[in-house]
Amino acid sequence: MSHEDRILQNEPLNEAEEMQEQLLLRPKLLKDYIGQDKLKKELSVYLQAAKMREEVLDHILVYGPPGLGKTTLAMIIANELEVGIQTTSGPAIERPGDLLAILNELNPGDVLFIDEIHRLPRIIEEVLYSAMEDYFVDIVIGQGSASQPIHFELPPFTLIGATTRAGMLSQPLRDRFGIVSHLEYYNTEDLKAIVNRTANVFQIEIDDHGAQEIALRSRGTPRIANRLLRRVRDFAQVKSNGRITQSVTDESLQILDIDEYGLDRVDRKLLSTMIELYDGGPVGLSTIAINISEDTETVIDMYEPYLLQNGFIQRTPRGRVATKKTYEHLGYLWMETKEE
Ligand SMILES: Nc1ncnc2c1ncn2[C@@H]1O[C@H](COP(=O)(O)OP(=O)(O)OP(=O)(O)O)[C@@H](O)[C@H]1O
Ligand SMILES: [Mg+2]
Repeated sequence: MSHEDRILQNEPLNEAEEMQEQLLLRPKLLKDYIGQDKLKKELSVYLQAAKMREEVLDHILVYGPPGLGKTTLAMIIANELEVGIQTTSGPAIERPGDLLAILNELNPGDVLFIDEIHRLPRIIEEVLYSAMEDYFVDIVIGQGSASQPIHFELPPFTLIGATTRAGMLSQPLRDRFGIVSHLEYYNTEDLKAIVNRTANVFQIEIDDHGAQEIALRSRGTPRIANRLLRRVRDFAQVKSNGRITQSVTDESLQILDIDEYGLDRVDRKLLSTMIELYDGGPVGLSTIAINISEDTETVIDMYEPYLLQNGFIQRTPRGRVATKKTYEHLGYLWMETKEE
């Protein structure tokens, strides 16, 4: 099964849905950004200090698994600073000229948001260094004997880079961010608040148990919580006059094949593959990926972090290992002689 037909997809939405979400759902102020309290406290100090000194905010690297609110946070920061924001992504910038074109759009104090910054080509990274440090770029335009270097001054700006893989950033690039923010999976209480907020925005009727149940099964991820809410809403529409209760949530999640840990079919297939074909591991991630017809990148970004964090798999020097919790959860016999 490809992840296109996943119910629990945790990928940015299609364009129309994305627009709707951006307009309605994305909180606009830091105080409406639910959870991540430590990060919010810190950021609000930096925001205030920058405003008081009338200086640009330091460059910020935001990293964490997909759907935890990196893009949302970048937009909030620009909004709180009352500056403009230019948005691009690592793979969209192929040549220095592409970077220059977007830098050229910046007004003093603006935010430049680069999503998937770990996918910037190395030559672009190198151009960024001076842009970040001293607000200029030196690039060469034209080719062969017609080529000439140009020096380009920039207004002061704040770069916000987002990545699911901080480890893939080169050290010199990472070192140029003054602020590094790590987003963590949300706890149930925060997810419940997010579900209630979304329900409120879309005028969905939901009771406390319903919100709790959706929160519990959202893998600590706001995007998934919002998506589950929409799906359950459809069931509630048909089965309980639109009101989302625990029983209608239970029933719909059962039909959607999402278990009490928030694992879907692909997660469970990944885990059972490890057990059935590799005796619980150790087995390499790329081997697992081939077996479940996903690419390794997807497994690393979307499945592994949650499974690791929740103790379904462990990392060892020789590969990934399924844990006792996994054996028991999926109904396999765990031998005490096995090492975790
Ligand atoms: N702290 C939060 N409070 C309320 N809603 C949130 C929060 N974080 C994220 N969301 C909601 O979750 C959705 C996904 O967030 P966002 O697109 O910012 O994630 P992301 O980390 O940029 O994901 P990706 O890695 O796929 O780019 C948003 O539409 C937003 O409505
Ligand atoms: Mg994003």
